Amino acid sequence: MPNTIAIVGMQFGDEGKGKIIDFLTEKADVVARYNGGNNAGHTIIADGKKVAVHLIPSGILRKNILNIIGNGLVVDPKVLKQEMANVKEQGFDISPDNLVVSENAHVIQEKHIEKDKEKNKHLGTTARGIGPAYEDKASRHGIRVSEYVKNDNELAPFVKNTTQLINKKLQEKKNILFEGAQATLLDIDHGTYPYVTSSNATVGGICTGLGVAPKHIQCSLGVLKAYITRVGTGPLPTELEDDNGKHMQDKGHEFGTTTGRPRRCGWLDLVMGKYAVMINGLDALLITKLDVLSGLEKLKICTAYKRNGETITEFTADLNVLENAEPVYEELNGWQEDITQCKSFDELPDNAKTYVKKIEEFLGIPVAILSVGPDREQTMIMKEEFLF
Ligand code: IMP
Repeated sequence: MPNTIAIVGMQFGDEGKGKIIDFLTEKADVVARYNGGNNAGHTIIADGKKVAVHLIPSGILRKNILNIIGNGLVVDPKVLKQEMANVKEQGFDISPDNLVVSENAHVIQEKHIEKDKEKNKHLGTTARGIGPAYEDKASRHGIRVSEYVKNDNELAPFVKNTTQLINKKLQEKKNILFEGAQATLLDIDHGTYPYVTSSNATVGGICTGLGVAPKHIQCSLGVLKAYITRVGTGPLPTELEDDNGKHMQDKGHEFGTTTGRPRRCGWLDLVMGKYAVMINGLDALLITKLDVLSGLEKLKICTAYKRNGETITEFTADLNVLENAEPVYEELNGWQEDITQCKSFDELPDNAKTYVKKIEEFLGIPVAILSVGPDREQTMIMKEEFLF
């Protein structure tokens, strides 16, 4: 069993990482974020309460977990304070004992938010100032958290050298969860540029975004929603604008946690899935929202694209190709039963089992967790050896 687990999104974000991470935090000692900022949005249902966190790692809703905001993040101090207050208000503890912010993380300033709103509309960003803050970081004009807190007594106690801290925890063999935000196809280097975020959301981001050496990432798990969604602009070859898409949007509550925007929905794209397995070196899958597909007569899985008569089986981030790619589908029979109360794989309808097995077979890695609803209880463990 691993001591360190990386959780990354395999699609365009909103795969349900929050719920899975929350589930895995039961046995975690440390939860560390390595990229992005408050563009992320994790909705977690804990103790019957629905809590949305954007910047604070998801381990905050459990006791005795150290939550780290790594150097790879961009932090909006106002948002951080507000979020700390919200979480406290819901009855959860926050102190420098369970939340630390890297002194080397960069600060999102008001001007970054303004610039994001003005200049990045065409990209459909979350308008939280993420891109412009990373721009200043890269051009070496940014302000780091260590500098900022010289004038902020409220946040100062939370600011630490998190690189040393996390490496100590690694030495002590603590259970560490690396919490990815956004996802593989939104990665600045490997996603559908320019319709991406400004950080490395893939596993590689852990090394630079936390100061953790590659050899310390023992297990990489990819979160795959049973269909696909995308917020904002950019190619989505399997997008649906019919009743099936509407079914996914309504039943899956596909509206952004951060911006409330409706998410575009489509059939599961395993060309992208395969790419995510490769880029992240995934060991196993965490499949979410399978229950949303209940009630559809036929299901489709995209296994290749066709473009100008040519069949493409390997993903490319080339927009010219993606925008003109016609999905090649394999059609499967759906199931009508409500599966939200199923406790084991055996209890699933046969067609649901076939759907999951098809994914495993195509991607060549097993499913470690299968989620059939938003609650902690609606989670099937399929392969324990990949978990803490
Ligand atoms: P930015 O990260 O605000 O710069 O937005 C860039 C792109 O990433 C936009 O298409 C956003 O909708 C998308 N994005 C950023 N964060 C998330 C997320 O957590 N989930 C889904 N999409 C996201």
